[in-house]
Amino acid sequence: LRQLLPQDKTKPPMIFHWIPVFGSAAAYGQDPIKFFLDCREKYGNVFSFILLGRRVTVALGPDGNNFVMGGKHTQLCAEDAYTHLTTPVFGKDVVYDCPNEMLMEQKKFVKFGLRNDNFRAYVDMIEDEVHKFMNNDINFRAYQMNDINEWGSFDVLHTMSEITILTAARTLQGKEVRSLIDKSFAQVYMDLDGGFTPLHWLFPWLPLDSYRKRDAAHKKMSQLYQDIIRKRREDPSGEEEHDMIASLMNQHYRSGKILQDHEIAHIMIALLMAGQHTSSATGSWILLHLADRPDVCEELYEEQVKNFLQPDGTWRPMQHEEIRSLPVLDRIIRETLRMHPPIHSIMRKARTDIPVPPSLAAPSESGSYVVPKGDIVFSSAAVSQVDPLLWRNSFEWDPARWTDPEGIAQQAYKQYDDENGQKVDFGFGLVSKGTESPYQPFGAGRHRCIGEQFAYLQLGTIVVTLVRKLEFKMNTPVPAPNYQTLIILPQNPRNILYRRRKFD
Ligand code: HEM
Repeated sequence: LRQLLPQDKTKPPMIFHWIPVFGSAAAYGQDPIKFFLDCREKYGNVFSFILLGRRVTVALGPDGNNFVMGGKHTQLCAEDAYTHLTTPVFGKDVVYDCPNEMLMEQKKFVKFGLRNDNFRAYVDMIEDEVHKFMNNDINFRAYQMNDINEWGSFDVLHTMSEITILTAARTLQGKEVRSLIDKSFAQVYMDLDGGFTPLHWLFPWLPLDSYRKRDAAHKKMSQLYQDIIRKRREDPSGEEEHDMIASLMNQHYRSGKILQDHEIAHIMIALLMAGQHTSSATGSWILLHLADRPDVCEELYEEQVKNFLQPDGTWRPMQHEEIRSLPVLDRIIRETLRMHPPIHSIMRKARTDIPVPPSLAAPSESGSYVVPKGDIVFSSAAVSQVDPLLWRNSFEWDPARWTDPEGIAQQAYKQYDDENGQKVDFGFGLVSKGTESPYQPFGAGRHRCIGEQFAYLQLGTIVVTLVRKLEFKMNTPVPAPNYQTLIILPQNPRNILYRRRKFD
């Protein structure tokens, strides 16, 4: 009934809902992109809705992205929004279970591990893992038979999940984790992962089996990493490793305090969880679109042939530095992340009342909206990245748009000219910078992803290793997204067909 009374004009408009407490959970959970675009149509760029008892305010568009991602962390706080989901999984004293300044230092430590001289060793390792996988996995029988007329098929998400964890283990996680991956590690990982879902974000303390398994798995996983660290400390004579554990073991905070073993262990768990679903989902969408567009897949293959095939028929090893400068590969990954950013709602919690700039949204009368203290605040690059106001044929997967200045509606250029007084280049290479960009698959601002370079290296190497060996096709359309998981995944069925190339 309260919804029928005149609304408080200082707060963003509230989306009407029939069921108290439940609110708009069904519409949001079913298809958040459609829900947000529909709400924008009626209420503009800023509105609020009820999500299972919580007040959520959404800020859309490039200005909305800027409001949330560029907001002060003392006002729009990430740890208050995420910690009840992440701390039981990652563990104590890291990421969102510590003051934000500490997270910033931890991100610097990780960045140091994600450096070029480590990356250089990774391309070969990733290639090797993919080859081994193809030579052993049951779904690659048709490839193993060496018959170029035989088509086989595999479930892309299943395959990419396995390849992603194997390659991340071999590179970032280190040889000990890699050696355990087919054994104890897999079950512990599955139990931990089972506790990293929207349900666990919405209801942090349900007495369900998955919560107990999650907590037990966290203890085991933390111990597993701490044992690796202890053994490495006990035998410092071992060969120099290029992995993240080795890198973190040499880091200390500005205060002089070294990273404790449990902190290293928990950062390693956080990196595992941050990279696994994001990269395996992205890799799956890439393969689905390549199978759906064999012309683009052939363009990618030709780029490989031109740059890496040697006169004797063998492939020259790819260098890490080359990956970002292969335009076809780059725009395939870029376009896939535009249409399928793994995370649809970036969350913060308002620690104070926060005025909304009138340029973003304002009530029809004078004055401005205020996001009330305690609200969860969402931004959604998943919306601005498919916004028909900003992108031509915005729901179409079209890597060529990144080479075509007309690929993004002129309006976008105008808008940015007007507001910033200067032209913002949406073209190749520049679009993902800045909290006000409409393109933010890796976030922006203080909490921006530090895994982007690694993700490009990992995805790029996996995809070209597969494409050098296989042709793809699909007899069904690219599946719709499933929004019910923490990361947007392709719905079932998601099988693609493959056949061994004549010259591989
Ligand atoms: C943060 C996306 C891979 C580590 C983020 C954020 C996004 C994102 C959107 C911002 C979250 C927020 O503002 O609340 C992605 C995508 C990936 C990817 C699309 C792959 C395609 C990785 C990988 C790693 C990683 C491989 C680790 C090696 C992190 C970390 C943060 C982060 C440490 C910072 C969290 C913070 O400061 O609050 N990522 N990520 N990500 N990501 Fe990634």
